[in-house]
Amino acid sequence: MSGTERILLDEAAISAAVKRVGAQISADYAARAKPPVIIGVLKGSFVFLADLIRTLTVPCEIDFLTAKSYGQNSHSSGVVQIVKDIDADITGRDVIITEDILESANTLRSVCEILRSRSPASLKVCVFLDKNVKREAPFEADYKCFDIGDEFVVGYGLDYAEKYRYLPYLAAIAAE
Ligand code: IMP
Ligand code: MG
Repeated sequence: MSGTERILLDEAAISAAVKRVGAQISADYAARAKPPVIIGVLKGSFVFLADLIRTLTVPCEIDFLTAKSYGQNSHSSGVVQIVKDIDADITGRDVIITEDILESANTLRSVCEILRSRSPASLKVCVFLDKNVKREAPFEADYKCFDIGDEFVVGYGLDYAEKYRYLPYLAAIAAE
């Protein structure tokens, strides 16, 4: 794809929003007996997760999973499988799932269902971006940095065909 790039969110805007969400999480999880387990959905969440945990003023544990959605490339289907699972036993633990972007919510709905079956004490969802216009059924994130419109975005961990994840800002790309 030859694309044009337009910066939507620069590093300063991203940093401020991540700090805001980090402060909310820090307040909500203060004084818990055990630290929350923050689970990053790979690969897209790794930059967000790395920045977010460094804004927290409460301890946390980190784990990762990879979910594969069987559907067309640009659109996830309702059939989601965990192809790389977390190492942690989350039974009785407070869990926060972090994801780069919530679109149809098919991915996170399925991941939540799978993790809920393991009886965590609580399960919350934290997303960097919410592309609400594409939702197929209601699904709300507990924490989010930004709402965005219906455009394809890259950078800050998000990719197009594995490209652009390294960009420190968020950009929209459009086919030329
Ligand atoms: P959902 O299951 O439809 O909510 O899809 C969420 C997943 O689709 C994300 O984890 C991303 O991998 C991908 N995705 C959705 N929109 C975008 C985008 O604008 N840029 C990059 N990836 C996206
Ligand atoms: Mg992803």
